[in-house]
Amino acid sequence: MSRHVLILAAGQGTRMRSSQPKVLHRLAGLALIEHVLRAAEAMNPATTGVVVGHQATQVQAGLVDRSSLRFAVQSEQFGTGHALLQAAPMLQGQRGTLVVLSGDVPLVRAATLERLVATHERTKAAFTVVTAQVARPFGYGRIVRTEGRLTGIVEERDASDAQRQLKEINSGIYAFDLDPLFDALQEIPRGGAVNEIYLPGLVTIYRSRGLPVETIDVSDPDEVRGINSQTELAEVRRIMRQSKNEELMAAGVTIEDPATTYVDVDVTVGPDTVIHPGVFLEGRTTVGARCELHAGVRIVDSTLEDGVLVNNHCVIQRSRIAEGARVGPFAHLREGTVVGAEAKIGNFVETKKTSLGRGSKANHLTYLGDTSVGDGANVGAGTITCNYDGVNKHATAIGHNAFIGSGTQLVAPVSVGDGAYIGAGSCITEDVPAGALGVARGRQVNKTEWAPRRRDEQDS
Ligand code: UD1
Ligand code: CA
Repeated sequence: MSRHVLILAAGQGTRMRSSQPKVLHRLAGLALIEHVLRAAEAMNPATTGVVVGHQATQVQAGLVDRSSLRFAVQSEQFGTGHALLQAAPMLQGQRGTLVVLSGDVPLVRAATLERLVATHERTKAAFTVVTAQVARPFGYGRIVRTEGRLTGIVEERDASDAQRQLKEINSGIYAFDLDPLFDALQEIPRGGAVNEIYLPGLVTIYRSRGLPVETIDVSDPDEVRGINSQTELAEVRRIMRQSKNEELMAAGVTIEDPATTYVDVDVTVGPDTVIHPGVFLEGRTTVGARCELHAGVRIVDSTLEDGVLVNNHCVIQRSRIAEGARVGPFAHLREGTVVGAEAKIGNFVETKKTSLGRGSKANHLTYLGDTSVGDGANVGAGTITCNYDGVNKHATAIGHNAFIGSGTQLVAPVSVGDGAYIGAGSCITEDVPAGALGVARGRQVNKTEWAPRRRDEQDS
């Protein structure tokens, strides 16, 4: 039987009070809807569609990387049933099972969707609803049962006091037999406190037609949490964070304080790495084994090989750090930084598009931009590459085993050859050959007995 997926994402998300489309809000490094798409993907659906409407252009732009997605537009949002109707042309002539998901229910697991479809197809249901028992059902549609059978779903705003006490909720995740679906959808009347076409209204229509309606429930209600407000988004973030941290700890990572460790879903960390409190690992970051990340470190889209030490309060973006290197405290590695094995970047050092060879050091108060440093070089305290002339960026090359004295300015484009020395306090504007000493600073003059003479003059 062929399977199709449709994600509803046209709603305004009013309760978020945000100018950003709700389904593009970030959760552990991905847009909410991206989490839903990943769960859906595991079913290998024949087609995957998204209903967009409110801020449709932004939502579609947020999904450009997914080229096989189809979009249906719901230009006015008259409710979830109306949203599903907009997909009728897209699914025209298709048969089989349609799984409908909400763009704002991101924690749903692939295994649950698999179980939904299996039950739905085995029972030959026309409509199967995923439900959950929750302690605080506020805001969800409640599952109304008669003699154990689902007979209706009532929204919070339309529910009686007695119905509000019901703890079984509608997750907004469904499977449908495509054959009767779009015909029946036409019959859902507008209604409820907000005069919308409620998709759950299909339950009563199918029951009156004698079509089988089933439910499956999830044992962990967190899985079907919907996000309608910033508070709910933060709660889901906490749940995701905890499960990612548990996954890492199960793989041998030491996390000193999981409550303050923020790791995006796609990040990997090797065993015996120690993560201190307040660390952020974001995007496509990979951390090797036996690393140590001290408090206050933020690493984005970067790769750390094994045994790297990052001291407190470093920011590392789109960089690569080889085995056994040490960074920080208080260093900023910007995009395109490559730190060689056993190399060292110390405090208050900023790098950009810069590579540092094996065992090289830039230990204090330095800026290296558009620079390549060979192996075993020493970049002294306060070295600055002057890489920008106000219009263009220029490159600096520092050879193997070179020694750059403290307080040096390297005015790019410029090169310092292998094994060359630069005298401290130099402003280097011309290439320095291999093995040479380059010195470019004013000569010192000592005026003997100058100070007492000046004092005498002032006294007289
Ligand atoms: C919905 C269900 C509720 C369920 C809850 C689960 C309805 C009427 N209610 O309520 O029973 O417990 O989800 O999280 O279905 N959308 C559109 N077009 C619209 C309206 C909504 O595409 O016209 C999309 C939204 O973008 C969202 C999803 O449908 O992704 C759900 O809409 P939302 O307004 O959040 O419904 P809830 O009030 O949460
Ligand atoms: Ca919702």
